[in-house]
Amino acid sequence: MQKLHFIELDSTNDYLKNNYESLNNLTFVSADYQIKGRGRNERKWFSSKGENLLFSILIKENITLKEPGLYSIYCIVEIAKYLEKIGLKNVLIKWPNDIYVNDKKILGVLSEGKYLGSNLLYVIVGIGLNVNQQYLNEQLIRPFTSIYNELNHPIDIEILKDEIFPLLEKLLLNINDYQKETNSYLSNHNYLKNKEVYAFLNNKKKLIKVIDIVDGKLLAKVDNELILINSGEITFH
Ligand code: BTN
Repeated sequence: MQKLHFIELDSTNDYLKNNYESLNNLTFVSADYQIKGRGRNERKWFSSKGENLLFSILIKENITLKEPGLYSIYCIVEIAKYLEKIGLKNVLIKWPNDIYVNDKKILGVLSEGKYLGSNLLYVIVGIGLNVNQQYLNEQLIRPFTSIYNELNHPIDIEILKDEIFPLLEKLLLNINDYQKETNSYLSNHNYLKNKEVYAFLNNKKKLIKVIDIVDGKLLAKVDNELILINSGEITFH
């Protein structure tokens, strides 16, 4: 593992994108503040200076999974288990990229990849975990929470990093061994289970009923048919 830290960056994802050629496989880059923190679907990611854990991981060797999004779901599972271990309750995974705690979003992932033909040249998994931030002034589309808000005490971000990074490194070095365990965890921690929500299928917004998560994909009922959804955004309205 190569670890880099910056006080300020445009975005930790962009840093890896711009420097992937010269950086090692499994470089973890973190920042206290991002000037242009990015969320999914062109949204911004808000985070006050030094309050939260903002980092990205560069994967450029042994890319065995077919889609960048599959890397994020595995990383999410490791972090969700860690959050449970440090005492958070009602930790659930909102497929494909978020962790919710008590119905509020605590973590989001933006995974990106560059293809060379049909092969992935690299994958970047960018993670924003709300740690010590208690309020956000910005108008968010999802309710917000943080580790501080859930445990009622501040957390040392350096210790958090020292505990979470090795978990993710171990996962990424042995990703194929994790599949079975991850499947059952996802199935038991599926925030969307039995919910009726909306997904974009062939560019059309469709009402779906979520049944399960299987091999990182969402199993849902659409117009009385069972389908597996590989990637995409799920909304409640
Ligand atoms: C989302 O929920 O929309 C995904 C948010 C991802 C935010 C993280 S913070 C670190 C990394 N750098 C970025 O610019 N975005 C990701």
